[in-house]
Amino acid sequence: MHGGDIYSAARELERDPTEILDFSASINPLGPSPQVWKTITASRHLLNHYPDPNCWDLRQALATFWCIDPEQIVVGNGSTELIEALPRALGIHRLLVVQPTFSEYAAAMVRAGGQATALFADRSDQYAIPIDRLCHVLEAGRHNGRSIDGVVLCHPNSPTGQASSADDVARLAKATRRRGLWLVIDEAFADYCPERSVLPHAASWPHVVILRSMTKFYALPGLRVGYAVATRITARRLQRQLPPWSVSAMGQVAALAAVNDAAHARKSLRFMAHERKRLRALLVALPGCVVMPTHANYFLVELPRGWHAHDITEKLRRRCLLIRDCSSVPGTNLRSIRLAVRTVQDNDKLIQALSQLLQQRVSS
Ligand SMILES: Cc1ncc(COP(=O)(O)O)c(C=O)c1O
Repeated sequence: MHGGDIYSAARELERDPTEILDFSASINPLGPSPQVWKTITASRHLLNHYPDPNCWDLRQALATFWCIDPEQIVVGNGSTELIEALPRALGIHRLLVVQPTFSEYAAAMVRAGGQATALFADRSDQYAIPIDRLCHVLEAGRHNGRSIDGVVLCHPNSPTGQASSADDVARLAKATRRRGLWLVIDEAFADYCPERSVLPHAASWPHVVILRSMTKFYALPGLRVGYAVATRITARRLQRQLPPWSVSAMGQVAALAAVNDAAHARKSLRFMAHERKRLRALLVALPGCVVMPTHANYFLVELPRGWHAHDITEKLRRRCLLIRDCSSVPGTNLRSIRLAVRTVQDNDKLIQALSQLLQQRVSS
């Protein structure tokens, strides 16, 4: 199950989807760049043509943004499409996944006929990415007694919010290279901590694929655009696994406009830095809640003892507030929820509802 399904909630509650406040998908609360709206309106005439199958203009813009060769970029229908294609493209049969993390890496492996094996980050270490243990496993090229072909690192990780330093990720890349293993680095949320991203340097690292998404920071979840950066040879292998025209014309022009709007990006980062700090303080003040550190635009929160994530998710849902129940994510406990940072007004609404619900239990 993923976050962001406002449609099911709206049907169930007999409401309009616009009445649902979605804290379960972590999307830039400032919304897309104003340039995106203008571009979409001005590009209506593209709807009666097939989209550019090469995503040429968008790849040029991304290449300029990252100072890399456009041939190193593969655009997909969301980064999800690229995650799906990677096992086949790279010939991965057994993938190491660092749990708790995004479920699609393991799911895509299984759909491709392969297997995923898990290394767990420690709750007692606030789920910090276990870089030393990972390097150790990668240098051995084996985990739980069987060989692996690669590892995927969600960086920053979802749902924990944890990220390592760029130097530590480089250390991982070296360890995978020595063994000829693949390293996939999912930077879907790295726009929020650019100092921890390995782009653009990692674009030339062999055996490394970096995934980026236009969904989160650029707030285009409904358009489905993501991209991978790799060496030219690897990019070609990945491209060959994608169906033609998988990225819509509107997705391409909107993503291009979004990437080129540096002012909106700066404003979004400033807003997030401030609001994340404010929301954190409010969450920490809720009696018994444990708030994990984050480098992204969401928090992993543990509810007070006696609460189950599923209960509070349901109760908030009845109030049109969607949060992500993380109790079934391997490696977390039953009290774990993930909350996106939204606007000041929305966050206050969530805190008020959470504090009322937690209070009810205390007084009953
Ligand atoms: C860590 C991570 N990577 C990738 C994705 C897929 O995003 P998209 O397909 O919208 O680019 C998600 C979606 O929730 C995610 O959380």
